[in-house]
Amino acid sequence: MGNMKTQLSFAPLAGIETELLAVLAADTQTAKGPDAKPQPALLTADLSVISAAEAALASGEFKAGANETLLLHAPAGLAAKRLLLVGVGNQAKATVHSVRSAAGTAVRFTKPRGIRELIFALPQSAPDLQSLPLAPCTRAAIEGALVGDFDPDTYRSDRKDQSVQSFTLAASANDNKADLEAAFAEGIILGESQNFTRSLVNEPGNKLTPSILGRRAVEMAEEVGLKWDHFSTDKLHELKMGAFWSVSQGSAEPPALIVMRYEPVGVTEGPVLGLVGKGITFDSGGISIKPSDNMEKMKYDMAGGAAMIGAMRAVALLKPKVRVIAVVCAAENMPSGTAQKPGDVQTAMPLSPDKPGKTIEIINTDAEGRLVLADGLTYARQLGATHLIDAATLTGACVVALGYVNAGAFSNDDETWGKFDAALATSGEKFWRLPLGEEYAELIKSDIGDIKNTGGRWGGASTAAEFLKVFVDDTPWIHLDIAGLAWVEDSKPYIAKGPSGVAVRSILEWVRSYQAPASSS
Ligand code: BES
Ligand code: MN
Ligand code: ZN
Repeated sequence: MGNMKTQLSFAPLAGIETELLAVLAADTQTAKGPDAKPQPALLTADLSVISAAEAALASGEFKAGANETLLLHAPAGLAAKRLLLVGVGNQAKATVHSVRSAAGTAVRFTKPRGIRELIFALPQSAPDLQSLPLAPCTRAAIEGALVGDFDPDTYRSDRKDQSVQSFTLAASANDNKADLEAAFAEGIILGESQNFTRSLVNEPGNKLTPSILGRRAVEMAEEVGLKWDHFSTDKLHELKMGAFWSVSQGSAEPPALIVMRYEPVGVTEGPVLGLVGKGITFDSGGISIKPSDNMEKMKYDMAGGAAMIGAMRAVALLKPKVRVIAVVCAAENMPSGTAQKPGDVQTAMPLSPDKPGKTIEIINTDAEGRLVLADGLTYARQLGATHLIDAATLTGACVVALGYVNAGAFSNDDETWGKFDAALATSGEKFWRLPLGEEYAELIKSDIGDIKNTGGRWGGASTAAEFLKVFVDDTPWIHLDIAGLAWVEDSKPYIAKGPSGVAVRSILEWVRSYQAPASSS
């Protein structure tokens, strides 16, 4: 992981000796129309900083658009060597999430310029800044800075580590220190957990096989004090995980069934949350092989599993009062003489040993994610999960529907969905709820067995979700299809091109929403 040192300061901005001081700016123009010129203004009450930027703001060169930057050297009256203005867009629309991106933008501006030190001023609590509450901004800013610091070029032999060595968030002396310090500590845990997920997703298939993914999860679990199990082929057979096994049977790499448990002391009642992740370390499609164009990208087909591993790290460190189990099903989907074939019929894991498992007709071996998740969801229920959430790079159809803008989400329970939707307001991530329904379920009925693993071209994200629902039954459940969001296709000012770590922050927030209310004894 990055080696950026982070701290929170309450010193007056003008006196801070530093290589670079970054300050936010918003467009305060309230009028609309062609004559309404941008009116950039700094989100600080520090008069020395305001006067140092006055001429630049008056020049009209800088409009304070979201993630727009302007660098000033030797700013008059400041101890800082440079002053960086970072826009958050129109003030009426700026939110905590704009501050998260702005912090990432400041870090990514700094990195390639050989500047190793950065002070980032939090927006100051002026009366017109109600949309930017300070503690959430503190948390978001440090998250954004850590996320911005990540670069994916880990295998470049002449890689210069351009990490910002020291990142300081500057609040004002009047702010509530304890509140901000708590928010700061949380933001570090979330940012680092998201980056941990990204470091896993970034690894190529030859460097991160199912077993190695298992080992990385176990190392993390040991570090943060989670209970864990790391199983392979024998356990899959013992549990009769015929769907999961059918995906891994064509590969020389054994599968990994990774289980992590978070059991806070004293919590013996209430919900048990089950986090289930798709961990396909490479998806060639199997016998229904994918076209070679872009096939290299299918190393990120374990992003759902990695999101669950990162979320468990954050859970272990933030210690919410609710029990959580994670199940990650890792395998490689390969064509070979031992691979499963279209037309094969597989038997999924039964919920209890005396019941029969559902039979699945394999139409397309490239619809493998739902197969490993089927058994993962069943296993999580068997382990006692009362509420389920899964994450998977499941369908191209979801990307067609929502592009790279929103990830897809499905739920069989409005209350459970309501909690996830509320979590999005804190995480700043974009998920859009898509429909389930009996008409979609019809499309995956099989002539030879219970269900088939594809429902045809149309409504592919919904038929995939209906497939999972067969194994969830009435357990309240959320399914996240992150195929379009797990990989950032074009670099943005605040995040590098590459693995995004999407879903970690939202899942963590959803988990927290199930905390037992503090006892009043
Ligand atoms: N891993 C893919 C889905 C995917 C597509 C992820 C694009 C990321 C980007 C999944 O296993 C898959 O191959 N799905 C098929 C299902 C089809 C055969 C029913 C798809 O979406 O084409
Ligand atoms: Mn596939
Ligand atoms: Zn896949």
